[in-house]
Amino acid sequence: MQQSEIQKFWNEVGSTKDFTDPFFADKFSALVKKESFIVEYGCGYGRVLNHLAHLGFQNLKGFDFAPKMIERGQKMFPHLQLEIMKSAALPLAPESVDAVILSTVLCCNPYREEQCQIVREIHRILKSGGIIYLCDFLITPSEKYLARYAQQAAINSDDYGIYLTTEGILVKHYTIKQIVTLLSDLIFSGWSN
Ligand SMILES: C[S@@+](CC[C@H](N)C(=O)[O-])C[C@H]1O[C@@H](n2cnc3c(N)ncnc32)[C@H](O)[C@@H]1O
Repeated sequence: MQQSEIQKFWNEVGSTKDFTDPFFADKFSALVKKESFIVEYGCGYGRVLNHLAHLGFQNLKGFDFAPKMIERGQKMFPHLQLEIMKSAALPLAPESVDAVILSTVLCCNPYREEQCQIVREIHRILKSGGIIYLCDFLITPSEKYLARYAQQAAINSDDYGIYLTTEGILVKHYTIKQIVTLLSDLIFSGWSN
């Protein structure tokens, strides 16, 4: 499956879905100030940023590669700044962002190249000592999922945790080790909060 097919899915099918994955606002608020510059990478239609706006966070910006997702967000939450991404690079200066939110985005990116692009870009824009809020799906050790991962591992044994959903899209679940490895540049250069 090409990355362009994955992007097409998130634009055409994904943008009709309501996301219900938890956002741990208490944990976020404990680390990030209300006036901080906060960016959500893969913001969907902006439900997390809208929640933060209601909590009093004032400086919020969201980016997503699915134009229909952004159009939906602009209609639902016109007070938010939501932008379509033209590439993996965000139109933001290096080290200009206090906190980045990455909520259930890595799961949409089964290929390492895109995962690394996302993390590299976050690394570039985050201030030293900045916060990354990452929420995603871990490997689920149930019979159903283990069978799905095994099916995909038979095709690509390099990267465990990928599976084909019933909607025909590739998704990835992660081990903690895979997440830590992916974030190692961020962690080992001091962005360890
Ligand atoms: C499951 S939704 C979550 C949306 C939002 N973060 C939330 O928690 O409500 C995943 C979003 O990430 C976007 N996305 C996935 N991969 C992306 C990428 N490589 N670059 C930009 N956006 C991406 C999708 O278009 C989709 O809107």
